[in-house]
Amino acid sequence: MKQATLHQLKVFEAAARHGSFTRAAEELFLTQPTVSMQVKQLTKAVGLPLFEQVGKRLYLTDAGRELLATCREVFERLSQFEMTVADMKGLKQGQLRLGVVTTAKYFVPRLLGPFCRRYPGIDISLQVTNHEGLLDRLNDNLDELQIMSQPPTSFDVSCHPFLENPLEVLAPHDHPLAGQKNIPIERLTGEPFIIREPGSGTRGAVQRMFEEHGIKLKIRLELGSNEAIKQAIAGGLGISVLSRHVLALEGGTSMLTILDVENFPIRQQWYVIYPKGKQLSVVARAFFDYLLDEGKRVAEDTAALKFRE
Ligand code: PGA
Repeated sequence: MKQATLHQLKVFEAAARHGSFTRAAEELFLTQPTVSMQVKQLTKAVGLPLFEQVGKRLYLTDAGRELLATCREVFERLSQFEMTVADMKGLKQGQLRLGVVTTAKYFVPRLLGPFCRRYPGIDISLQVTNHEGLLDRLNDNLDELQIMSQPPTSFDVSCHPFLENPLEVLAPHDHPLAGQKNIPIERLTGEPFIIREPGSGTRGAVQRMFEEHGIKLKIRLELGSNEAIKQAIAGGLGISVLSRHVLALEGGTSMLTILDVENFPIRQQWYVIYPKGKQLSVVARAFFDYLLDEGKRVAEDTAALKFRE
């Protein structure tokens, strides 16, 4: 069947429906010999007769009936596809493939709420991984858009900031330094410290900051999850530096506090990125515009950025 063409299938379907090559030719504005030739070629591709002629009338063979059913399915699928494309152009259908770093999961799902309500036909695939994992996904072109706070230097990307991502020193609320002002960064030297896993962007930023100030951290625990680190801090295992976003939804009952340490917060931005020159799908473009416009406001409202006050 690989040699069969869509045109041959159309001609066959018309001939089968009319039971006549002549009527099929009239409908398709072709000559009768052309119809007959197309059906002959299709018959050769199938390897079995498609019609039997009884008197002047054509009847489908078993193979012909099977092919007719298949043709109808194919044409139906194609017409559905046409509708889907039309809808996508009108931005009603499609899938948004989004990859975000772990900390972005504290606000991105909230952002998606109003977006999905506006475009109910859009499905979302949201992948959450650390910085290094996201770079691998970028390399494999698995996401249409990505959200991270340290744009890659080894890829040529279009990179657009849309929100602050301050990294704060977090401690249990009953920590001896809690409530003190302008704590010198050196005071953290002896503190048991909890750090994210290798490959984490947060870990990289924290290490750079302490190295710049010649401070050697006393790493007590390495954990691959922001939530686990929060629990460990609350459990008195140490302090850590994490994005202020991890405090979203904590409210006044939080067991954590932000220490007012000099040189903190580490000021970072959230960026939405995609490979430079990549043609964004209609759906991805809509989300990109939403993010840079209203998304920013929604994220600020929900992301505990005012936790300090
Ligand atoms: P992380 O990334 O989840 O890998 O720590 C955060 C970031 O992009 O800074």
